[in-house]
Amino acid sequence: MKFFADTADTAEIRELAETGLLDGVTTNPSLIAKSGRDFKEVTKEICGLTDGPVSAEVVALDHETMMREAEVLRKIADNVCIKVPLTIDGLKTCSKLTDDGTMVNVTLCFSANQALLAAKAGATFVSPFIGRHDDNGIDGMHLIEDMRLIYDNYGFETQILAASIRHATHVLQAAKIGADVATMPPKVIKALADHVLTQKGLEGFTADWAKTGQSIL
Ligand code: G3P
Repeated sequence: MKFFADTADTAEIRELAETGLLDGVTTNPSLIAKSGRDFKEVTKEICGLTDGPVSAEVVALDHETMMREAEVLRKIADNVCIKVPLTIDGLKTCSKLTDDGTMVNVTLCFSANQALLAAKAGATFVSPFIGRHDDNGIDGMHLIEDMRLIYDNYGFETQILAASIRHATHVLQAAKIGADVATMPPKVIKALADHVLTQKGLEGFTADWAKTGQSIL
């Protein structure tokens, strides 16, 4: 499973990249607004922090303007992945962009039929929003299950990019189902390493080592 950071905070991305665990980054207009930075400038900086795909989202609602925006965004760096919404105009844009080899992430996916359309449009990634389903009393993991089944039934190469992930259990469930990628807030990626028994065990080893009076270095 690939791990993407769902943030436009470059300090957090840099820190994660240094762990060697980061495979890419996703942003959206809300995350760009939260960063308080210029969209193109921050996207360029993020693209320099990872070799993996960096999703940058168009904001137009119509196909023609989406194409013009995508043209600007893909010139920022070779690893820009154009993010488009799961609408007919977004899917049309996805088809056109993927025809010439541009990476595309189709976002705001909330149903398996939408995911089927995104795969037919040649999407590189499709982003089912797990947490927002959960917020509305629906188990978002059923969507990931349906997508895995459908994509495997037809051999679609579109990668399932589990998004709107809120906690470590979401990551575990998505990994068990076979989502290709999970995009997470940095704090969720870090939380995957936490275990109370790891901490307790480490405290015990450290205390016992001190009793030996030895040093490795
Ligand atoms: O980047 C898209 C997605 O991950 C947003 O998550 O937490 O705003 O629902 P959230």
